[in-house]
Amino acid sequence: MAMPVVDTEYLKQIDKARRDLRALISTKNCAPIMLRLAWHDAGTYDVNTKTGGPNGSIRNEEEYSHGSNNGLKIAIDFCEEIKSKHPKITYADLYQLAGVVAVEVTGGPTVNFVPGRKDSKISPKEGRLPNATKGVPHLKDIFYRMGLSDKDIVALSGGHTLGRAHAERSGFDGPWTQEPLKFDNSYFVELLKGESNGLLKLPTDVALLDDPEFRRYVELYAKDEDAFFRDYALSHKKLSELGFTPS
Ligand code: HEM
Repeated sequence: MAMPVVDTEYLKQIDKARRDLRALISTKNCAPIMLRLAWHDAGTYDVNTKTGGPNGSIRNEEEYSHGSNNGLKIAIDFCEEIKSKHPKITYADLYQLAGVVAVEVTGGPTVNFVPGRKDSKISPKEGRLPNATKGVPHLKDIFYRMGLSDKDIVALSGGHTLGRAHAERSGFDGPWTQEPLKFDNSYFVELLKGESNGLLKLPTDVALLDDPEFRRYVELYAKDEDAFFRDYALSHKKLSELGFTPS
């Protein structure tokens, strides 16, 4: 599929879509699932074959039906409302813009957004996203395959400051923090407190305490929210641009 032409008209639609997304996300309180949609579209990237990535392919039934994408059709349908008002914008750009806006409107850092991603109809095979029941080696395998680093893994896991797990979607249940609609560093604070606080900890969350390189960042982000926001904004931008070279 062709590269969108990022001219003044395209940029104007991006600006309008950004405003519409702010309104939609605050009306529907759907920041968490919008962030998860952006992450699951992007997180299929394979740096070696240059396949997957933030290309809008998660809109294909074949892909949103993958077990790891359970529930995301809700976010795809929300984005369709915006797409019909601003049809020039690619799905790939729209989903990443939704992720960036979700972080912004819940009080998180401003993530720089560069438009111009092209859409793909080709969905990767199931199994590229992380499995929450696994440990350190799996997390590293999956994120290194995307071309991301240990620091990116920890910073991006901080996305679990938003939202919750749903038993009927993933088999896990409950939020990671006391205020799941507020983007802050409480995910790391709660992670260090251990199992006693009644909040959700996936095996892959707990794995961040097991590896010394990971743990260094968990401790830093728990005590220094500014450091978390700075690193998160950079890692989120990287995730949103996997395989994409802005022209
Ligand atoms: C939710 C796994 C990384 C953002 C979830 C859920 C699981 C999961 C099992 C619960 C889904 C449900 O039941 O509804 C993982 C694993 C990761 C990971 C194994 C590996 C590190 C990330 C990243 C982000 C993210 C990098 C974003 C930067 C979210 C959000 C939700 C969520 C916002 C809440 C969705 C909602 O409230 O509906 N994740 N995740 N996750 N994840 Fe992750």
